[in-house]
Amino acid sequence: MTDFSAWMQACQTRMERVLADCLPAAAIAPQRLHEAMRYAALGGGKRVRPLLAFAAGEVTGADPERVQHAAAAVELIHVYSLVHDDMPAMDDDALRRGKPTVHIEFDEATALLVGDALQSLAFDLLASHVLADDAATQLKMVQMLAQASGSRGMAGGQAIDLASVGKPLEPAELEFMHIHKTGALIRAAVLLGAHCGAPTGTTAGSLDRYAKCIGLAFQVVDDILDAEASTATLGKTAGKDAARNKPTYVSLLGAARARELAQELRADAHAALDTLAGPTARLRQLADFVIERSY
Ligand code: IPE
Ligand code: IPE
Ligand code: MG
Ligand code: MG
Ligand code: MG
Repeated sequence: MTDFSAWMQACQTRMERVLADCLPAAAIAPQRLHEAMRYAALGGGKRVRPLLAFAAGEVTGADPERVQHAAAAVELIHVYSLVHDDMPAMDDDALRRGKPTVHIEFDEATALLVGDALQSLAFDLLASHVLADDAATQLKMVQMLAQASGSRGMAGGQAIDLASVGKPLEPAELEFMHIHKTGALIRAAVLLGAHCGAPTGTTAGSLDRYAKCIGLAFQVVDDILDAEASTATLGKTAGKDAARNKPTYVSLLGAARARELAQELRADAHAALDTLAGPTARLRQLADFVIERSY
């Protein structure tokens, strides 16, 4: 096992524990909702956003005891977005993280409520733990996650995604959609992790540039994997974008050019890190992971 995969596994294990502790026990009423929330959030996923938060926290000297709560908050928003993304009104998917989706395993109303409740729990976490040295910074962090999740972030990107089915988008429109539906939350993960420590203005600026590149690259690679990987490898139904006539980087540019673009974004992300003074090795490795991943 490489040093990076050992680090990744340790962070994933830590995230699983923090999420298991903050999610209400399945025995607490309403049991079915709590069971479904735990089903959605636990025991799966790459935990890329938490990994980015921990790695950004390393750059700014953040205490991992703080970062873990910020990381869990971002992951909860991400899980909520997946549960809703899979519902019949959106992508209508039956498989997620190798298991039946929440609306299949439970029912549609429960899946809606799981998303609602995970979102509230994310903000509860940000409000219940000391994450920054001063209250003003912590308030700014709450605002960062709210803006990244809302109509001018992830939810807005999802709205554009749904409105774009069957339409050939211009490259700039596709980039705008991807930056919002996926990039915004990835950017929030990096910035929240960083703000658990003490980023200087230039550090925050460089991390922001890194995060924007990785956020877009993440969805470019997701589009490539949807077209090229197997359902078994992905743990979600492969080939759905073409089947549902979604505009993607593969449909717009072709797989070869999409792969080149991902490599260019990796180089840009690395270049942003070159300007930083702190320990950036993990962020560098995560950029490589995001681009080279097979699932
Ligand atoms: C899938 O995200 C949805 C996108 C935003 C592209 P991930 O690939 O991070 O999914 P998990 O968390 O590993 O299941
Ligand atoms: C999902 O994009 C983005 C969000 C969940 C916000 P996709 O619809 O491409 O994600 P997958 O492929 O279903 O994981
Ligand atoms: Mg979708
Ligand atoms: Mg989807
Ligand atoms: Mg996809």
